[in-house]
Amino acid sequence: MAGWILKSVILKNTPMRTKIVAGNWKMNLNRDESLQLILDISTAIQQHDLKGNRVMVFPPFVTIGYVMDSGNRDHRIEVGAQNMHQEESGAYTGEVAAKMLSNMGVNSVILGHSERREYFNETDSLLKQKVDTARSNGLEVVFCFGEKLDERNAGNHFDVVERQLGEALFHLPGDAFETIVLAYEPVWAIGTGMTATPDQAQEMHAFIRKTLANRYSESLSNKVSILYGGSVKPDNATEIFGKPDVDGGLIGGASLKANDFVAIVKAL
Ligand code: 13P
Repeated sequence: MAGWILKSVILKNTPMRTKIVAGNWKMNLNRDESLQLILDISTAIQQHDLKGNRVMVFPPFVTIGYVMDSGNRDHRIEVGAQNMHQEESGAYTGEVAAKMLSNMGVNSVILGHSERREYFNETDSLLKQKVDTARSNGLEVVFCFGEKLDERNAGNHFDVVERQLGEALFHLPGDAFETIVLAYEPVWAIGTGMTATPDQAQEMHAFIRKTLANRYSESLSNKVSILYGGSVKPDNATEIFGKPDVDGGLIGGASLKANDFVAIVKAL
């Protein structure tokens, strides 16, 4: 009896992390192609029990509204943004503010993607500002980070990841992590077909959790969803998602093909 009570207490206190498959469409698909893709994905997952797992897509700004309002969208598929500006509003031609997104009903934004860091010079300190602006506008942040190939080869990958997390996120109070999803995306695995092995992903995800536990607490670290991104495909998703600290994936190329994306959703 005592054993049963103990077991049920442990189970009750064991946080079930939400699992997520998210598609980052990057700068792909026009309006018609986007509407077709959301229709195809929706049709294919219609009968699928998501069991509380989340499915998200991140179209370019100009098509977010169409995808979101499409009558063909399975409403379990959440629609987010790939970026936003750090300022609340103002003379920033060509930019998009957090409150424009939240006003449209967008709930999540990707920040820190390596392509933004690399091609648009987004630094850790800029990302810290963006994270704060997103949060003050009620947006969930899907925060991306990860090392480059030379950093891994030099054995610096843990230090790089610790720095990226620390500088952009660790000024936040612990409860902020209720609306932060982490996405570890080693730069050398993005769009290259050279995915991290499931063991490499697990090793880094366990390190990230340990880093969170050291800065905040063990219980917080066990509640944060940590996604893996970088050449996830239907044929490697099951093995990667099977690792204990991997809570799903952020998918680039394979999210543009309905069949592949749905196969990855089903691999969760
Ligand atoms: P790929 O899946 O194309 O490697 O892209 C990953 C990614 O950058 C998702 O944000």
